[in-house]
Amino acid sequence: MKKVVLSLGGSVLVPTLEGNRVTAYAGVLSRISRRVNLFVVVGGGGEARRYISAAREIGLDEALADEIGILVTRLNATLLAGALGDAAVPAVAASQTEACAAAASGKIVIMGGITPAQTTDAVAAVLAERVGADLIVNLTSVDGIYTADPKTDPAARKLDVISADRLLGIVGGASPAAGANMVIDMVAARVVKRSGIPLLVIDGTDPLALEDALLAGRHSGSLVTATGKKPAGLF
Ligand code: UTP
Repeated sequence: MKKVVLSLGGSVLVPTLEGNRVTAYAGVLSRISRRVNLFVVVGGGGEARRYISAAREIGLDEALADEIGILVTRLNATLLAGALGDAAVPAVAASQTEACAAAASGKIVIMGGITPAQTTDAVAAVLAERVGADLIVNLTSVDGIYTADPKTDPAARKLDVISADRLLGIVGGASPAAGANMVIDMVAARVVKRSGIPLLVIDGTDPLALEDALLAGRHSGSLVTATGKKPAGLF
């Protein structure tokens, strides 16, 4: 079976606690897991941002704000692991090594954040390298990688297939502050480059889009590969 690591943005899984998509994602992930070996790294979403702003207002440092963000990613990950029931390893892996060991069960392995000054995208990219994944999928609240921020630049254009070098150029100028929002973080982009593992960025607000991408090979996001060309047999 192919191995796929998902970076499941908190902004799509738990944009707010009340508006969470945990049940919908649990259904889609269990169906996909019959044909694909899945690893899921869950982000912090709106609740992490709320905690991080509270931490800043209190005057806490950025590293402690990151630690609080990590706790929220792990809460979200625990919700998803619970909803997946027997299809997933019940304990959220606390390290890359723990996630690799959990993979032997053949069940879906779930992680959250692990270390300050990065995001769960970086956790997902490193995990992909550790387990020798065939693909990383970043499920986020934008529908791909743009030449500039589409929210502020009307001339921004979506890129269908780009090289890892170009991705590094695009994310290079983004802010490293706790809770910062960018399509993928710099650490993740560097690991994508050095590992050569293809990265697909798709809109995760419709969970069925993931099923379409992984099981039917159809998507309308952006693909990052070592060469900037579509590899044979992948979408
Ligand atoms: P994420 O950045 O991964 O979640 O973690 P997100 O921003 O909600 O993901 P999207 O936007 O939905 O895709 C939230 C915060 O937790 C801290 C960082 O402060 C991050 O901004 N964090 C997370 C870490 O410091 N280290 C980690 O390994 C993961």
